[in-house]
Amino acid sequence: MEAASLQAVVVTGASAGIGEEFARQLAVAGHHLVLVARRLDRLEALAGELQSRHGIQVVCIASDLARADAAEQLVATLRQKQVQVTGLVNNAGFGDRGSVESLALQRQLDMIQVNVTSLVDLTWRLLPGLKNVANSFVINVASTAAFQAGPNMAVYYASKAFVLSFSEALHEELKGDGVAVSALCPGATDSEFASEANMTDTLLFKAGTMTTEAVVRKALAGRRNAIVIPGFKNLLLVWLGKLSPRLVTRRLAGMLQA
Ligand SMILES: NC(=O)c1ccc[n+]([C@@H]2O[C@H](COP(=O)([O-])OP(=O)(O)OC[C@H]3O[C@@H](n4cnc5c(N)ncnc54)[C@H](OP(=O)(O)O)[C@@H]3O)[C@@H](O)[C@H]2O)c1
Repeated sequence: MEAASLQAVVVTGASAGIGEEFARQLAVAGHHLVLVARRLDRLEALAGELQSRHGIQVVCIASDLARADAAEQLVATLRQKQVQVTGLVNNAGFGDRGSVESLALQRQLDMIQVNVTSLVDLTWRLLPGLKNVANSFVINVASTAAFQAGPNMAVYYASKAFVLSFSEALHEELKGDGVAVSALCPGATDSEFASEANMTDTLLFKAGTMTTEAVVRKALAGRRNAIVIPGFKNLLLVWLGKLSPRLVTRRLAGMLQA
């Protein structure tokens, strides 16, 4: 194996919201970083700030994870820049409110590509390297949406159910290999997500949001756990959901984002 010049944690979707906060808290902990998103200007501004504040090295890579070859290209760039990946935060993702019929097909297929396919692709490509590093980790950002079907956001909820199931299984598969795999399941969180998903006026977001700071603090502290649900309210809702018939939980989810 060629010598790596930089050991770093990869954070996808680091140009805003939860991903940006992951970058900030990982930088405080002294990790070098690879920041990935489409908006390179934002990544570079964040990188400049984190480098000067924390003395870490940051590589920025512009990538559209809705492209089928994005993960392959990203890993090729990491190899070219001689980065050894010590952790992976698969955070990039988006949702959209509306019925399956009313939303553009391409938007929903892109959602599956970003939220699901690129996440699996990147994980698969980086796993062999992660197994060579002590205390390496993968954090996949799912959602409390993962625990029930979501009428009016069907593809988004289904994509997060996939992320949760995939991450739990991978957590078990890699137990003996020293790679901690965790599914982070936030509820409504203050970021650009709600406006991107046309959800700012929904009951779900009006009922209150968590800060990205609190969500990421829980995620990093709990990264050895298979599932992390930040916030007491979110935990309670998930557990109440488990005690209820699926007919009830899916109708409730539909009401919260009508
Ligand atoms: N906020 C919530 O209420 C909430 C709740 C549960 C789960 N989540 C999940 O948390 C994750 C982060 O969301 P957030 O709340 O931080 O939302 P956000 O503020 O909108 O940030 C989303 C991030 O994903 C990136 N992204 C979106 N599409 C991309 C693409 N095609 N290629 C590359 N990067 C892309 C965006 O970067 P560019 O636009 O620069 O590409 C941005 O950095 C998502 O997986 C979301 O589903 C959010």
